[in-house]
Amino acid sequence: MKLTYLGHSVLLIEGSINAIIDPFITGNPQCTVSLDSIKKLDYIFVTHGHGDHFGDTIELAKKTGATVVCNYEIGLYLQMNGVENIHSMHIGGSKSFEFGSVKLINALHGSSIFDGKNIIYAGNPCGFLLEIDNKKIYHAGDTGLTLDMKLLEKYSIDVAFLPIGGNYVMDIEDAATAAFFIKPKLVVPIHYNTWSIINADANLFKSKVESLKINCKIMSPSTYMEV
Ligand code: NI
Ligand code: MN
Repeated sequence: MKLTYLGHSVLLIEGSINAIIDPFITGNPQCTVSLDSIKKLDYIFVTHGHGDHFGDTIELAKKTGATVVCNYEIGLYLQMNGVENIHSMHIGGSKSFEFGSVKLINALHGSSIFDGKNIIYAGNPCGFLLEIDNKKIYHAGDTGLTLDMKLLEKYSIDVAFLPIGGNYVMDIEDAATAAFFIKPKLVVPIHYNTWSIINADANLFKSKVESLKINCKIMSPSTYMEV
């Protein structure tokens, strides 16, 4: 399976399914691919309603026919906006899919959709624990450090994508503690350096994580890895 980091919190997954997590393409300063270049998607995973995660979900869902996996409230919002294929779930819920499974992990954050005029309630934010082609991927979404992350250790996660940019989410110190709680085979930092307010030293994060005997890989936007 190929995992391509498109910058900020965007992750493209290409395996037995094509999927994207938090498709913030338009307006993402780190994203070098165009919305037009994303042609085939089976699933879109949305962690919460904030624009830098919800992003181009509606346009991509309509264009590709992908099923959007998200919380119930975002599901309703998508339904009201003409998206046809929606799989709503909620915190703590897990479900088998043809590719493996999905579990919604709690995230300590906000979730709303701002349509330019109104702030719309968008349910609880989440992270995703995905099992795809027998590999376990955790995308934390936006979150502060929680003791609950210790519960993830039992899943033997292959790759954990953790936000490190601070201000709205964990900083490198807290994200390193999160990595220690989760003990994945590999940690990849996300949600940093997109704007100056979330600047973070990924190399310092990597050295902190590696001092805990956990592997860490810094992915530049538009690079990929095989898992
Ligand atoms: Ni957010
Ligand atoms: Mn964010």
